[in-house]
Amino acid sequence: MSDKSRAGSAAATARKPRKRRTPSALLKFVMALSGVLLLLYVVLHMIGNLKIFLGGQAIDEYAAYLRMLLEPLVPYGGVLWIVRIVLLVSVIAHIWAATVLTLRARKARPIKYAGGSHQVKGSYAARTMRWGGVIIALFVVYHLMDLTAGWLNPNGVHLAVNDNVHADFAPGRWYVTLFYVIAVVALGFHVRHGIFSGMQTLGWSNNNRERTIKAVATVVAVVLTLGFVSVPLAVTFGVV
Ligand code: HEM
Repeated sequence: MSDKSRAGSAAATARKPRKRRTPSALLKFVMALSGVLLLLYVVLHMIGNLKIFLGGQAIDEYAAYLRMLLEPLVPYGGVLWIVRIVLLVSVIAHIWAATVLTLRARKARPIKYAGGSHQVKGSYAARTMRWGGVIIALFVVYHLMDLTAGWLNPNGVHLAVNDNVHADFAPGRWYVTLFYVIAVVALGFHVRHGIFSGMQTLGWSNNNRERTIKAVATVVAVVLTLGFVSVPLAVTFGVV
């Protein structure tokens, strides 16, 4: 290669725009913020679901009430649509930040651990989070087609929540109940670790607080899990 062409290619390399990296701190903040919004939603959703224990009419009225929130300031169903948009943006942001951070961590540690009892704790937790996240994502897609759109529901009538839920978790469809239970348990683990690592990311955890934060994360996760699984189980076993 001549000196001239060598100089030319060096200049081209220098001119090549370098891809801007999203700072890891920003990605972690996005994960934490979207995680908090999603957690807030699932806690409210779980509380709302418990209305079924007050009777079928109570849960159907609650579903109708959600559509009428802030009427007439906001048109019928408007608040629900705002919530849906915030949820969708949060889910996309959460998965995007998780994927970029995972790929970065993998690049920084190209040699895999040998495995066995010597595996690093953080790596185990991270794997659980990833698989848990995948199960929850698949569940949400199924769940929306089942109880929101009604396509996969044997009853599937809009706003007939009580009948839809009873058709869904009928004793003969124990496998649907089982799937819901597995997904909610995965959600419980995800939330427990998410709260704990989120607190660390935001710098609110230290040696003194670690036990308290772990205890709070466990209580939130257990209450959420029990609250959610109680509905499909109560329907399958004929309690409601
Ligand atoms: C395990 C018990 C659960 C039951 C019985 C249940 C029940 C329902 C029902 C009946 C609806 C439709 C409500 C309506 O149209 O007014 C719904 C919607 C929804 N659920 Fe669940 N759910 C459960 C768990 C979950 C979990 C664990 C998540 C999230 C991880 C979740 C996320 C959603 C979402 C995003 C919607 C759509 C809300 C909307 O746009 O209208 N659900 N659920």
